Amino acid sequence: MLAAAGSAIGLGNLWKFPFITWDNRGGAFVLVYLAAIVAVGLPIMIAEIMLGKTTQKSAVGAMREAIGPRWGIVGGLGVFTGFVILSYYTVVAGWTLRYFWKCLGWSLNGFPDAFEPGPHFGSFVVDGTTQVLLAGAFMALTVTVVVLGIGRGIERVTRALMPALFGILILLFGSAMTMQGAGEALGFIFRPDFAELEWGGVLEAVGHAFFTLSLGMGAMITYGSYLQKKESVVAAGGMVVALDTLIAMVATAIMFSVIFSSPGLSTQISKSTAGMLFMTMPALFYTAVPFGKLLAPLFYLLVGFAALTSTISLLEVVASYFIDQRGVKRRTAAIGCGAVIFAVAVLCALSNGAHAGLSSWPAIFHGPTGIKAGVFNTLDHLASNWLLPIGGLGLTLAAGWALSSKASRAELERNAPRWFSYGVWLFFIRFVAPIAVLTILVFVIAFGRDFS
Ligand code: PHE
Repeated sequence: MLAAAGSAIGLGNLWKFPFITWDNRGGAFVLVYLAAIVAVGLPIMIAEIMLGKTTQKSAVGAMREAIGPRWGIVGGLGVFTGFVILSYYTVVAGWTLRYFWKCLGWSLNGFPDAFEPGPHFGSFVVDGTTQVLLAGAFMALTVTVVVLGIGRGIERVTRALMPALFGILILLFGSAMTMQGAGEALGFIFRPDFAELEWGGVLEAVGHAFFTLSLGMGAMITYGSYLQKKESVVAAGGMVVALDTLIAMVATAIMFSVIFSSPGLSTQISKSTAGMLFMTMPALFYTAVPFGKLLAPLFYLLVGFAALTSTISLLEVVASYFIDQRGVKRRTAAIGCGAVIFAVAVLCALSNGAHAGLSSWPAIFHGPTGIKAGVFNTLDHLASNWLLPIGGLGLTLAAGWALSSKASRAELERNAPRWFSYGVWLFFIRFVAPIAVLTILVFVIAFGRDFS
């Protein structure tokens, strides 16, 4: 369960959710996201963990065994999606290493007086060599852990570090709430204005529900296979969903309080929302938080760790396909997949301004703030808004319709918490979740002008 929480909680919560909430102008977007978490995310989370636990296999094998050989294709799509996500996720994960290092320096030698986080971040992302080196370092870390296997080591580290991350977030939240922009921040996040929402934004909210919970590509199938027989699938799934959502909300409230408290920062952020995590936090640590000097480097270290537990699960999905289905040795599979994904990661690392061509090509889709372009943005858009929801749709059909309800009922009702009702779950996995996802995909294709 801890490993599953580690997979779910990551850059999706701390980096991505705050900036897409900003891009989509808050309120209504957050509400759609929360609705998607409950109506689509939770039922699929339970379904994925169940598939893994009953078959004791990873994505492709689990689908083949539980439902039928043809369903392996849903798992196969998941393997491809994991490949795509990891290639750009590694780039942002690399940023955490650099900010950890920078903060160490600031804590020891003093924080510059007239520090401008926006321009600072801007000149960092266009430095191609640094970008590639950082992504490479993070990929090397990920490959090392996957070669060693997700054994006791990673579990023990997760148990110690996740609560530490949580502790720091609570402290930051406390300071952020005393800032003068806190009220405006909470209003922005929680007061919905549906006039602001477009179909593209709805798809992004649903896509992000999949992304942040690591759903739609079989990562949770793999972790479900590690659960012990007597452990409840529903309790584990419910806990992961609740924790993940809480952390995203807290992180967003912190960052927006900082932004709304310093008008200069909000204009800097508007130029590159993607760097929000790296622009707001130094401002908070070095000016407002007690013991901020001590906590700043620790914070980025923990964010890097949260990213690592997610990159591990991404590489594990890709590598375990070759290990389980193709008989490749774990070591060879992890290093080989890591190397190929890194080649694509290099393109992503150079597409935030370092290389003009990669940063503007392909310009194929409309974001909420106009046309988005570049390899990095395109792969992110493709994976979280399209591949994960489509994979998730396949999973709902597999778990709700193709799997016998006798099998799913027995597994889900074992030691289930009191709030769980099998009938309600079945209704959501059979009708609500697939119809919602399908409707949104169709509307975006018809009216969303998602691709230009
Ligand atoms: N859920 C992770 C995050 O929020 C990202 C992820 C997606 C990990 C899909 C595994 C699979 O950062």
